Amino acid sequence: MLLLLWSLLSFLLVLDLSVLADFDYFEDDDLTSFVTRPEIKAPKFDVVVHDPALVTPGYWFVAPYANIEPDPPTKKYMPCQIGPHIYDADGNLVWAGSCDYKNQNIFDFKVVNNIDDKTHLSFVVEHAFQNEGDRRGGGHLLNSHYEYENEVPVTNDLGAFDIHEFKILDGGKTALVTVYRPEVLNLSGINLPTEQGWVMTGGFEELDVATGRVLFEWRSFPQIPLEESTTPFPDIPSMYPPGWDYLHVNSVDKNADGDYLLSARFTDTIYLISGQDGHIIWRLGGRKSDFVLENFRFSRQHHARFLESNSTHITISFLNNASDEESQNEPQSSALIVILDIAASPMTATAIKRYSRPDGGLSRLRGNAQLLPNGNMFVGWSEQGYHSEFTPDGTCVMEARFISDRFSTYRAYKFDFHGRPQTPPDLKAFVYGSPSSSPTTVFYVSWNGATDVASWNFYARATADGQSVLIGNAPKTGFETMFVSDGYMDWVSAEALDADDTPLGISEIHRTIVPNDWLAAGFGLDENRPVPQDPETVVGGNDDDAPSEMEHGDEHADEHAAATGADATLAHEFLGGIGGLLVLILVMTSIGLLAGASICALRGRRHRRRQARYHEKILSEEAETEATPLTAAQPTRSDNTNPAR
Ligand SMILES: *[C@@H]1O[C@H](CO)[C@@H](O)[C@H](O)[C@H]1NC(C)=O
Ligand SMILES: *[C@@H]1O[C@H](CO)[C@@H](O)[C@H](O)[C@H]1NC(C)=O
Ligand SMILES: *[C@@H]1O[C@H](CO)[C@@H](O)[C@H](O)[C@H]1NC(C)=O
Repeated sequence: MLLLLWSLLSFLLVLDLSVLADFDYFEDDDLTSFVTRPEIKAPKFDVVVHDPALVTPGYWFVAPYANIEPDPPTKKYMPCQIGPHIYDADGNLVWAGSCDYKNQNIFDFKVVNNIDDKTHLSFVVEHAFQNEGDRRGGGHLLNSHYEYENEVPVTNDLGAFDIHEFKILDGGKTALVTVYRPEVLNLSGINLPTEQGWVMTGGFEELDVATGRVLFEWRSFPQIPLEESTTPFPDIPSMYPPGWDYLHVNSVDKNADGDYLLSARFTDTIYLISGQDGHIIWRLGGRKSDFVLENFRFSRQHHARFLESNSTHITISFLNNASDEESQNEPQSSALIVILDIAASPMTATAIKRYSRPDGGLSRLRGNAQLLPNGNMFVGWSEQGYHSEFTPDGTCVMEARFISDRFSTYRAYKFDFHGRPQTPPDLKAFVYGSPSSSPTTVFYVSWNGATDVASWNFYARATADGQSVLIGNAPKTGFETMFVSDGYMDWVSAEALDADDTPLGISEIHRTIVPNDWLAAGFGLDENRPVPQDPETVVGGNDDDAPSEMEHGDEHADEHAAATGADATLAHEFLGGIGGLLVLILVMTSIGLLAGASICALRGRRHRRRQARYHEKILSEEAETEATPLTAAQPTRSDNTNPAR
């Protein structure tokens, strides 16, 4: 059996994989595909590491979205593609929270370490389409087991929880959020003294985390007059809300003095606002800057953050997008660290670090800049999930982006993190064989969200209540690990071990899935069908040509045939015929199991614009997509995982 797999693999290796990669065999080959969790369709990353030694250890926190507005409830969008996701530094999926949020967009997904001595996760859940069912969105908190802790809801008259910011302040009692508030205003400020119209004003709130109660709200108008805007006024005043977006707030932070740092995209200005009385203490940038900008300029900025300050100087970071949909002021987006001398007269602002977008592009939409504890800068450029990390001298040490161009992430963060799901690992095992050889059992195991797994132990039992027998161990590979055992192993389980071989968790005991059609799978006539073996005899190792104790297995077969249906059939078909080889090649290239080869082939090439959208999948199509990995996954990872050899 394994010989056959190896010969298929050798054949594959002589093919020119870069040619294969140019074909779109499956429309979702830029999404993950797992045997154990077929419903998870996470965007895959293309990763380029320039200097591995200088990359900060940690995980990426992103929340891919396809459409920034909520999807209408047409049910035509395939679930489990958007939402909160964690990836490791190689771009392997670690946690997909997508299936828990029913196609609602998630923004600003990050680790929160300033509440207590525990690690938490926070993010914004966007309001539902037309606030269906009064779902106005909210700020969510999870624990490090991915369990729901709290939702901070909208409790006032606002139509929705704004997506731009959800920042828990130290101690976890309050949180900052940005606010968009449509108002009818007198338009004298823009030379229309006799007219009124709807204007989207902006501001921020500090909320009580436990209840959502608004403790403090700051509103932009009239302190920030309409004439301060640098975005064009529409031809005529808006008769209906939301109206002219004159300000577009997109981040808010708070310092130890209790003052707030507010970034507004459409005035190109960062404001310091008094926590005492709400007056604007100073403006950085824009039409009315209180600072002389010494060596830089900026526009359409995002994610302004206090870094440090004393009585004379304030250091901040932000993303200088330098452009928007309409205009372009600088050739390239960058993250900036700027020091403000507030004792000088006039006050001065000096850029002390600049991290330019590595691909030379402009982030037209969104983005963020996160100063890591070791001094490196992690920058999310937003579109297509592009992010990169820099050393303090501005050298780019890694960059990555979604292979798919149909997803973006509003912000991207990197954190050290230990995630431990409360649900058990997911395991599936399949038995394969041919009339001329003894059967083989192939295991797939994953544990959505578990960060510290180094390897997996695999167990089998001779009967339902038999003694559990260790049949082998395999190092963890990416999200899902495959393991191959000789023999027909049944009543199987898998146990996660950390780097010190300490057990972290164990799956439930599963029956091994048998072919839907034994004959097509190469198992010969009915009477020759294999039955579960005693794992002791197989692990013993000297007997693997002669499966022991052939029990009568037909009941088992029928039971699982019914349960697994088409996917088991497909999984087994390729072993029975030459046609399977073609399927195998197609699937392998499409689902990226030849990850190294595929990514090399993709790298440097223009990213193909796929026809596929984030869209409806009809049921039969979906079933096929879920089933096909079964046929493909086996040969690629079967090396050195067979304990019986
Ligand atoms: C609009 O506001 C300006 C300034 O506050 C005021 O002078 C003007 O009379 C107002 N116009 C209307 C129509 O209310
Ligand atoms: C405040 O910070 C600036 C910049 O780091 C530094 O140059 C200055 O000496 C500091 N002032 C005081 C009073 O510590
Ligand atoms: C820059 O920051 C703003 C803040 O909203 C973001 O929305 C904007 O799209 C980003 N990019 C550009 C170039 O404006």
